[in-house]
Amino acid sequence: MTFERNILCIGAGYVGGPTMAVIADRCLRYRVTVVDIDAERIARWNSADLPIYEPGLDDVVRSARGRNLFFSTDIPNGIREADIIFVSVNTPTKQFGVGAGMAADLQYWEKTAREIRHYAESPKIIVEKSTLPVKTAKAMERILNTTRHPVRFDVLSNPEFLAEGTAVKDLVDPDRVLIGSAETPEGIRARDELVRLYTHWVPRERILTSNVWSSELSKLVANAFLAQRISSINAISALCERTEADVAEVAEAVGMDRRIGPKFLNASVGFGGSCFKKDILNLVYLCRSYGLEEVADYWLGVLRINDYQKERFVLNMLKAMFNTLAGKQVTLFGFAFKADTGDTRESPAIFVARKLLEERVRLVISDPKAIRQARLDMQGIEGDIRYEEDPYAAAAGSDAIALLTEWGLYADLDYEKILLSMGKPAFIFDGRNILDHCRLFEMGFNVYAIGKPPLTHFT
Ligand code: NAD
Ligand code: UGA
Repeated sequence: MTFERNILCIGAGYVGGPTMAVIADRCLRYRVTVVDIDAERIARWNSADLPIYEPGLDDVVRSARGRNLFFSTDIPNGIREADIIFVSVNTPTKQFGVGAGMAADLQYWEKTAREIRHYAESPKIIVEKSTLPVKTAKAMERILNTTRHPVRFDVLSNPEFLAEGTAVKDLVDPDRVLIGSAETPEGIRARDELVRLYTHWVPRERILTSNVWSSELSKLVANAFLAQRISSINAISALCERTEADVAEVAEAVGMDRRIGPKFLNASVGFGGSCFKKDILNLVYLCRSYGLEEVADYWLGVLRINDYQKERFVLNMLKAMFNTLAGKQVTLFGFAFKADTGDTRESPAIFVARKLLEERVRLVISDPKAIRQARLDMQGIEGDIRYEEDPYAAAAGSDAIALLTEWGLYADLDYEKILLSMGKPAFIFDGRNILDHCRLFEMGFNVYAIGKPPLTHFT
């Protein structure tokens, strides 16, 4: 079969893999190749045991792989053959030198730019899929379009808005697709080419076009706004715990205002995930580098509240359990940063686990999809840790359960049975407010939720 276009994606991670699988699924006449320097990751993309867990992903990959979707480590050949190259490598927070702990680390991204320049023999459209600081496309263009290199490259910004756990759904039915381009005839031609790709399945009115800088900045701002909502409701949860107001009732009342809306108002132990923190830090760094100190401080507040919320959760546990946790068994229900993913990057569970171990608890970690990753995250951390996928076995003998990930299965467990297997008094700390607190209390648990009055049997 001859294909209309060759698409390459550099970076086979949480974004590159699912995004390209959906493009291959929807654009049957496009040949889509995903490459990565991580040979083990590529081998897993080519196996039945995909490197990431996403509902619906197995089916999409299985039907497209070998037909018009390919996973490979042959980066040079991939570059040579491609008409359009998506760059979807990681852009973590820089850990060294200028901007350490705040700026984006662009080394992986820059390396791909140099590789593209090195191997390309024909004109290409380069699509920034990774989340990048504003003006990165300019740097990309400067690296690519040197006078010594005759091949023409057009750089577009096309940030990804998918959320983990709903990646396939978000890709198939996105709220919007954003494409930023230079406002030159060549830039607009490149942009139209990418618009054409997405119109295979996305209604044209949901495909937004803008200049490159607005596109790059919109991605950082979208994540900052989402995180800000969570920190706002989490800040209010602390006030609720002091005032006997119930944060779920407050969120409902506030969210019913159509100008505010009900989403992203679930108070929690804190937000995690690979992007909110790094993208806000990136935004803060950008503001500081333009001398906008007040703006930077404003956004930094979102992260401060998130740290405060995680710390508060552990302190509440300590206080509730008579100010000593040493020698007590605590079971974590959930380790992933959210439900329906095996990803644990920046998961609040990592913070809570570390702090509990400092208090010398005997820790049991349970999660339906993230045990493998949890073991890696906890490597080198001292303490008594056991891993147990089965929640009943995990809870048996525990003094307390801390629910840290909103997996649906935790709401449906037989808590009578769990209570019988636990030490007494039995505590449950619901860091996601997904359990039936009154029922648990009536059974005999001492129940602590986020932003709600505790339900205890102590007088
Ligand atoms: P990831 O770490 O899962 O994947 C990145 C991949 O790039 C890795 O497999 C790595 O080996 C590969 N890589 C790095 N340098 C390479 C090189 N020179 N050549 C080939 N491969 C290389 O990261 P991710 O979660 O997919 O995120 C990628 C980007 O997308 C980030 O900028 C992130 O901010 C953004 N983003 C992520 C999400 C998400 O839900 N994870 C959502 C939207 C946007
Ligand atoms: C987030 C954004 O939602 C995506 O649009 C974006 O593309 C992505 O970041 C990214 O750039 O990486 P993701 O981190 O996968 O997606 O998941 P979210 O659903 O946003 O959840 C993030 C964290 O906030 C999780 O820990 C979640 O449990 C928490 N959360 C979410 C709350 O505590 N309360 C809420 O009401 C919603």
